[in-house]
Amino acid sequence: DSDLINVAIDGPAGAGKSTVARMVAAQLGYVYVDTGSMYRAVTLGAQRQGLAADDEERLTQFMKSLDIVLKPGANGQFVYMNGEDVTSLIRTREVTGAVSHYAASGIVREVLGVMQRNMALRKGIVMDGRDIGTHVLPDAELKVFLTASVKERALRRFKELGQEAVVTLQQLQEEIAERDRLDEQRELAPLLKASDAIELDSSDMTIDEVVDAIVKMSRTKLAEAK
Ligand code: CDP
Ligand code: CDP
Repeated sequence: DSDLINVAIDGPAGAGKSTVARMVAAQLGYVYVDTGSMYRAVTLGAQRQGLAADDEERLTQFMKSLDIVLKPGANGQFVYMNGEDVTSLIRTREVTGAVSHYAASGIVREVLGVMQRNMALRKGIVMDGRDIGTHVLPDAELKVFLTASVKERALRRFKELGQEAVVTLQQLQEEIAERDRLDEQRELAPLLKASDAIELDSSDMTIDEVVDAIVKMSRTKLAEAK
């Protein structure tokens, strides 16, 4: 269907990808896919089974038995792993601290990459992650590389935690910087701006400004695709 395009949004942790991607999808009437949630679900499942991130053999077995289902909800996306609703379980610090290690595994990336490509076959998808524009959907009609300074990203996450914060702003900043480092330096599909991606630095932008900019770019691409 040439009336639909795919939109890829990549960038580092806390840049606003999921917030913005969900709102862009709603405005376009598209389906939002949060690929980070899939890496998080794998991490939760592997941790429960005591699987090390570098144990490719056992991870391969694990990935064969893995079923991940994403369901669109009002406030984002529900994540089911082998039938269990893990939507909030995959957001703990324990998962967040380990996910980049599991995301470096070849078998994990291969299996999730196939699932993600299948989800986008019919177009009309806004997909966010780290390697969507470079590896998962290299033919996406619109690619955005969303960034913000590490200070601003840590501050955003800190505000999200509010009263419940058990970490300091400084700790959050260090954790985010470490995850960026692991994601950028891994061998397979590292976090990288695709050569044909449009870079958007959201450090001094509101959410609505970022959403408007991406919706506008999407409409331009849609008109071109016709
Ligand atoms: O939302 P946040 O920025 O904290 O992270 P996320 O999007 O939930 O992704 C969690 C982790 O999954 C990232 O730090 C990456 O290690 C990994 N990931 C990836 O490798 N490739 C993707 N396409 C998406 C996430
Ligand atoms: O998905 P990613 O890790 O890139 O970021 P997120 O989970 O969407 O978190 C970004 C946080 O920054 C959210 O609390 C947003 O409300 C806030 N924010 C934003 O996304 N964009 C801005 N321009 C300003 C703030």
